Amino acid sequence: MSATYLMPTYNRQPISFTRGLGSWLYTKEDTPYLDALTGIAVCGLGHCHPQVTDAIQQQAATLVHTSNLFGIDWQERAGQALCTAAQMDSVFFANSGAEANEAALKMARLYAHQCGFKRPKVIVMEQSFHGRTLLSVSATANPKAREGFFTLDDDFIRVPFGDIDAIQQAAAEHEDICALLVEPIQGEGGLNTADNGFAYLEALQAECDAHDWLFMLDEVQTGNGRTGKYFAYQHSSARPDVLTTAKGLGNGFPVGACMVRGRANGLFGAGSHGSTYGGTPLASRVVHSVYEVLSDGDIMKNAVSEGQFIRDGITDKLQKHGVSSRGAGMMIGIALPESIDCSQLVDRARDEHQLIINVTGGHVIRLLPPLNMQRDESEQVVERLLSLLTPLF
Ligand SMILES: Cc1ncc(COP(=O)(O)O)c(C=O)c1O
Repeated sequence: MSATYLMPTYNRQPISFTRGLGSWLYTKEDTPYLDALTGIAVCGLGHCHPQVTDAIQQQAATLVHTSNLFGIDWQERAGQALCTAAQMDSVFFANSGAEANEAALKMARLYAHQCGFKRPKVIVMEQSFHGRTLLSVSATANPKAREGFFTLDDDFIRVPFGDIDAIQQAAAEHEDICALLVEPIQGEGGLNTADNGFAYLEALQAECDAHDWLFMLDEVQTGNGRTGKYFAYQHSSARPDVLTTAKGLGNGFPVGACMVRGRANGLFGAGSHGSTYGGTPLASRVVHSVYEVLSDGDIMKNAVSEGQFIRDGITDKLQKHGVSSRGAGMMIGIALPESIDCSQLVDRARDEHQLIINVTGGHVIRLLPPLNMQRDESEQVVERLLSLLTPLF
């Protein structure tokens, strides 16, 4: 496989797949690999889900794109479905998670403008990941992602994830804060959950309400059933003003969304933001088909039970060696002791056990299996992982 013409923005693994079905990926020799990563939390309904494939095929043969100069019936339907699921008032469709967050961050700046701020700031978290556009990468913590890009560092205040005192301190030190942006569970930064779980979001909302900041949730990774609720914030009583999502939203079709309610309503008007491709008839019909599959509810229940099964299967055997688990639903982190060398784990899982995984934050195995994974497949995830990990202790 030659990558001569591709910019070297990725350290790619020495394998490629030619087809996928459900929880499985196949090479051109038809060797099956059990996919516990789903394209980094994207194919939540499994590869080539029949209802989504059908929606793509039918719409591709009917009408792909007209632009947002015209009414788009499927965008209206997808918007209604998504806002109902998310308990939000209205949506702007984009094409990726970064674009959805870019919209949210631009909206925060408009809000600041309305409030008369000169140099608005947004509170973001250490270990956060929000994307690669200039504003979203400026909000991102990872120094490697930001290095050399003259990121807009003065426009963000970074505080430790899970630390409410740090937010109160920021509020005391800065007058021009307009919003707070946070992932309910940090995905790229190590699968971090707050000590008090989703109740953390309630405390964050209270701070936002007290200071009239926009409370903005990045559910690019945690949304669309990944944690066992449609959106992760629905595990709590918190309600965001702005909610972004992507990844599972199109089950592999590129689409993102930025939703608003309450005080964030009406910030964007005609001409203030846009996208040629956002919410095409094709993308919108895919979003609607994913909604139809997900809103039956059983898939999210399955994500909870299978996620717990996989977590328990690993910790039951390896807890005694200092292995612990975290996350929710099918967003699973398996934290290994720092003494374990994790540098070969992804390659060995793939080459020796035909299992696709990811390692994040140095010592956390990140599993993002399909939400509808079958029990015999979950058993295989556990068996293959135990075969990989047990010899390390
Ligand atoms: C929480 C979060 N926000 C934003 C993004 C960026 O999404 P995209 O790669 O679709 O631009 C990601 C991608 O991993 C993410 O996990």
